[in-house]
Amino acid sequence: MRVTLGVTGCIAAYKAVEVMRGLQKSGASVQVVMTRNAANFVGPLTFQAISGLPVITEMFEPTADPEIKHIQIAQATDLLLVAPATANALAKFANGIADDFLSTLYISTTAPVLVAPAMNVEMWAHPATRDNVRRLRERGVEFVDPGEGYLACRTVGAGRLAAPEDIVGRALAMLGRNEIARMPEAGAIESDMAGERVLITAGPTYEAIDPVRGLTNRSSGRMGYALAEAALARGAYVTLVTGPVSLAPPAGARVSNVKSAADMCAAVMDDLADATIVVMAAAVADFRPISVAEQKIKKTGSGLMIELEQTEDILAAIVRAKHSQVVVGFAAETEDVTENARKKLLEKGADLIVANDVSSQDSGFDVETNRIILVSQEDVVEMPLMAKREAAERVLDAAMKIKRDALSPAAAQ
Ligand code: CTP
Repeated sequence: MRVTLGVTGCIAAYKAVEVMRGLQKSGASVQVVMTRNAANFVGPLTFQAISGLPVITEMFEPTADPEIKHIQIAQATDLLLVAPATANALAKFANGIADDFLSTLYISTTAPVLVAPAMNVEMWAHPATRDNVRRLRERGVEFVDPGEGYLACRTVGAGRLAAPEDIVGRALAMLGRNEIARMPEAGAIESDMAGERVLITAGPTYEAIDPVRGLTNRSSGRMGYALAEAALARGAYVTLVTGPVSLAPPAGARVSNVKSAADMCAAVMDDLADATIVVMAAAVADFRPISVAEQKIKKTGSGLMIELEQTEDILAAIVRAKHSQVVVGFAAETEDVTENARKKLLEKGADLIVANDVSSQDSGFDVETNRIILVSQEDVVEMPLMAKREAAERVLDAAMKIKRDALSPAAAQ
């Protein structure tokens, strides 16, 4: 479910943050588009940090992406939700005026449109606004009407933005109707992970030494991204916490970009409670410099000692804090792969360890294939060489089996 959330300039703009969170919690990925005036009320960075996607504020921003952005978004969205919508936004939509990104998007999209107006009582009651609302309704635009209450202009009356939970409810109802209309023949799609909330980490971490140097590793992020794509295709809601990689984010995932092990740990802990399955595919740095030099370290003619300390063991922290989630760890090994993976399963308390020999040419870093060994309390299953996407499917199969067995232990016998 992909929602484009248009935010226009009025005092209620801050409530759009709650609307966005509500949509995300229900499994939607949210692309935010703000008008220039909206950016005066809430900073685009607030939305960006929570949605994990860059916020669009300008129509003609030079970008490396050759696609025409408003057409790309217009076609990719399942619902255009404008909350709050000002009188000006309604007037533009009603008259087909396309003088900024949001109004251009409105006339470019064929997706259903839901509007939650917010304005002063006189503006809402003005014949021009009434006329615009009527024309938009006639065209199929749906409204979550404003409520009555104390308004920012110190008057009481209709014009207050509807409650964020009501807006989210209406948006989900519209998305649901749409999904049913587009649903292929029963059984045509494998959605055995619908309802699962999968938290995946991917890529390396980067531990700064000074402003231009740092410690990192060779992880490309391919395995974690393949896991995210596979889980999305199977109907799961996916949060991907990723270190710096050069891969395109999987469409539909909520992406949180992080750098260091500490950032990754914080992002994972933030989302842990909501998750049902956690897969730690990231190659987290085990050590970081004790202190980061504020300026670039200069050569002095002799060597340089950098004192390192251990980073937080995120997997261990997850296991300490988790409730019923199935937790999957990876074991990047260069020798005694199965034995070391068994040890990690016990030491870290994970439900499953996916082991691979990273010294091998075809299953290590930065290649498209992997040869994995799935180590759980019950079994050790050695898989043949396969594409990382295929390996991802097998990891998810194993995690789902552990979940099912935990729910009905008798069936596992
Ligand atoms: N991991 C983690 N936090 C760390 C280091 C690793 O959560 N600071 C996770 C990795 O994402 C992986 C698992 O722990 O899922 C095992 O990582 P690996 O690098 O193979 O092992 P380490 O725990 O670092 O142990 P060692 O390097 O001693 O083998």
